[in-house]
Amino acid sequence: MAPHATAVDERAPRAARKAVPHRLLMCRPQYFDVTYSINPWMNPEKPTDAGTALLQWEQLRDLYLSLGHTVEVVEPIEGLPDMVFAANGATVVDGKVLGARFRHRERTAEGPAYLDWFARNGFSELLWPEHINEGEGDYLRVGRRILAGTGFRTDPRSHAEAQEFFGLPVTGLTLVNPNFYHLDTALAVLSPDEVMYYPAAFTPGSQAVLREMFPDAVIASDQDAAVFGLNAFSDGLNVLLPQAATGLAEQLRERGFNPIGVRLGELLKAGGSVKCCTLALS
Ligand code: ARG
Repeated sequence: MAPHATAVDERAPRAARKAVPHRLLMCRPQYFDVTYSINPWMNPEKPTDAGTALLQWEQLRDLYLSLGHTVEVVEPIEGLPDMVFAANGATVVDGKVLGARFRHRERTAEGPAYLDWFARNGFSELLWPEHINEGEGDYLRVGRRILAGTGFRTDPRSHAEAQEFFGLPVTGLTLVNPNFYHLDTALAVLSPDEVMYYPAAFTPGSQAVLREMFPDAVIASDQDAAVFGLNAFSDGLNVLLPQAATGLAEQLRERGFNPIGVRLGELLKAGGSVKCCTLALS
């Protein structure tokens, strides 16, 4: 047996990976702009190009459609330039919807707007939250568990609220680097038991928890994390991630995934990319 055979055999070969079709919610960046700064990526002095943002967003949506996913859209609202980041709009698990309550007043109106979409689209178990939480920006489901970010946006008290509402174990993880202010900027779920993440974005205690839960995780380099490579969406086979994250793409390929680089540079000016634009409804 070749010396590396064991390590390779432990991972699922490509043929064993299967894409699971998802129902996704997105929001066209019709009113996208950077008019305020609530994370280090946002510089209101730097010009944005609405046309380019729209084009890049459409490419992402079309890519989802071509991979067999269903994309629903929520109507954008003028004056809410960050509404394109649908991931923050709510958290959906098993058809139950936990509304989002934003940390910054610039985005607070998005919470009710998204919850209203759910109410009008056949979701009956809705919870308007007591505590601040920024939806699937900080809540990521891995199999039958939920990983929950805190440190910048989501209040740690929201984690108990989410656990009680969804009836699934919620593991809190604390972020420490302001460039990685939502959990989905520092960690991506690849399959029901695999993740990739950037250790330096977390406290030592949270790093230890991640090592304990996912000893075989894909670890992102400084370079890949810095280009927002972890802001990715995986359907179990195809992993859509920022195009510049070439190291991560290579690691994913070695593990039998199909990495697909996406260009979303315009939206990155607001501190968002693939996953931020995507709210998984199923
Ligand atoms: N400008 C937005 C904010 O700071 C970006 C949100 C990115 N969304 C995400 N899921 N990480 O709130």
